[in-house]
Amino acid sequence: MCGIIGYVGNDNAAPKIVKGLSLLEYRGYDSAGIAFLKDGAARIVKTSGRVDSLREKLLKSDKSYCAIGHTRWATHGPVNDVNAHPHKSGNVTLVHNGIIENYIEIKNELQTQGVVFKSSTDTEAASALINKYYNELGSEKDAIKKALFEIKGSYAFAIMFKGKEEIWVAKKESSLIIGYGNDGFYVSSDIIALLPFTDTYYVVNDGEIARISSDSAIVFDTNGEKEIHWQKSEQDEQNIQKDGYDHFMLKEMHEQASAIYNTISVRAKKEMPDFSDELASDFFDGTERIEFVACGSAMHASLAGAGFIEQLAKIPSNAYIASEYRYSVPAFKKNTLTIAVSQSGETADTLGALREAKRIGNKTLAIVNARETAIAKEADACLYTYAGPEIAVATTKGYATQVALIYLIAIYLANKNAQINAHIAQVLTDTLLNSVPKAINETMLRENEMKSIARRIFDLDNLFYIGRGVDYYISMEAALKLKEISYIHAQAYPSAELKHGTISLVEKSTPVVAISTNEQLYSKTESNLLETKSRGAYTILITSNIKTASEADALIFVPYQSAIERFFCSLTLTQMIAYYAAFFRGCDIDKPRNLAKSVTVE
Ligand code: F6R
Repeated sequence: MCGIIGYVGNDNAAPKIVKGLSLLEYRGYDSAGIAFLKDGAARIVKTSGRVDSLREKLLKSDKSYCAIGHTRWATHGPVNDVNAHPHKSGNVTLVHNGIIENYIEIKNELQTQGVVFKSSTDTEAASALINKYYNELGSEKDAIKKALFEIKGSYAFAIMFKGKEEIWVAKKESSLIIGYGNDGFYVSSDIIALLPFTDTYYVVNDGEIARISSDSAIVFDTNGEKEIHWQKSEQDEQNIQKDGYDHFMLKEMHEQASAIYNTISVRAKKEMPDFSDELASDFFDGTERIEFVACGSAMHASLAGAGFIEQLAKIPSNAYIASEYRYSVPAFKKNTLTIAVSQSGETADTLGALREAKRIGNKTLAIVNARETAIAKEADACLYTYAGPEIAVATTKGYATQVALIYLIAIYLANKNAQINAHIAQVLTDTLLNSVPKAINETMLRENEMKSIARRIFDLDNLFYIGRGVDYYISMEAALKLKEISYIHAQAYPSAELKHGTISLVEKSTPVVAISTNEQLYSKTESNLLETKSRGAYTILITSNIKTASEADALIFVPYQSAIERFFCSLTLTQMIAYYAAFFRGCDIDKPRNLAKSVTVE
């Protein structure tokens, strides 16, 4: 959940570190810091708050050719300057992403040996331990190895030693890459932060230790030094600019249509779903049950996806919150396929659930956006989404591509299981590939209409989204989006369930938004909405029922024929309501309080 960057080479390090940190801020933005080697010693500048505050604290004279930087999402210890990284213990200065689970034991032991700690972080225990072994052994590598033997938990470290113009790294369960540029070597949590400097990188594996200096990168695994196979990033620096939009979130909402097209077009051959480039031809053979594991919005995408698979392919399917699944695995029968869904590919709970599914013998598939990440690599097979880099903390195009890809799998399985014929499969695939992106782009033109809805609700404290079936799953995502970026409390409820208790919260002017896109249920959902109006609610109906005679206070039409177009139109409308509600409240839309985009701790 924190971002790490390091550079050693023949250029001034600090501007690179600050630029990289600003690109890593999506991983956490509680505090930021940098350590650079000056006259052989590490000089640290750190501050609570954003990278911009760090930039202000740096002096022009802070010139150095070797530096490490960090942007923090606090796990241990309050957000303040002292707890900000880097942490320095004697000869060792380091930055850390992850959690050291046994830091109290390590700290207690070191305190009995006279070590004094300045911060309340778990990280300082690691720097002190490495320093202790460095003083004893005199070798950087041996000191790190010995400390890692004792450290329990997850980590990516970038470490500097006094007087050495080099950076050492080690990792377990937290992402870390090495970059190879014209002017030196880099380390980073993510390729995004390196794109301004290089597109050539190596993904460090769990258990490896590496050293970068101005002219070399050396990686050690358990067998000693290993050959590095450099890769080229497919990402473009252009993708990480706002392109004139006020916020990345708005830009990414506008990119949803092309992201879905890119995700589906590579798997739609002759208008039929085709996974033959990525999955063995017998990959789905014998699958009797599908379960999804995911968190947050990816979990909402999974719920919708499980519904599509059940309805179209008639394969029993469920979606589980990954953090619950991993400690209470559902009773399963043989031939279960577990699908882990994750934009970042590094969500700790989803990774834990995936590992648990593997442990009990399930076949596993990952649906991931960020390339070469742990979830992508550890599953038996992986299907990437083509959303491109998603910078706003609140996901939009990442979620949209997850739903689209799972829908394509549902069409594929339905055809494979003879639940639909090839013609229907072609029609559904064509709709997903061509009509859905068009519908999203048309919906994005309705910004003014959604602005006026947002203006009506932005200064209220509570809101309900209600719906049935897939509309309920959209409601869950709509409520999450509104909560996380506008801080308006929002709850999603299955329409008819409201009257079993929760309707007592509805009072004069409480906004209730019903999503109603299933013609069989129009009248039922509309009745549920009016039940809230009778109790004073301000009612908004998002409906594809063009003939509705509903007395809702506001009507928003979804003018599409197919269920999947209606899904994405409703979704996009609710994203815009959330965006503009947050906008009118003056919220920090791309970086909501308390959040980070990659949640790499349990
Ligand atoms: C909400 C949001 C989160 C993520 C969740 C899982 O807008 O982005 O709820 O969906 O943290 O993240 P990934 O998909 O990276 O595993």
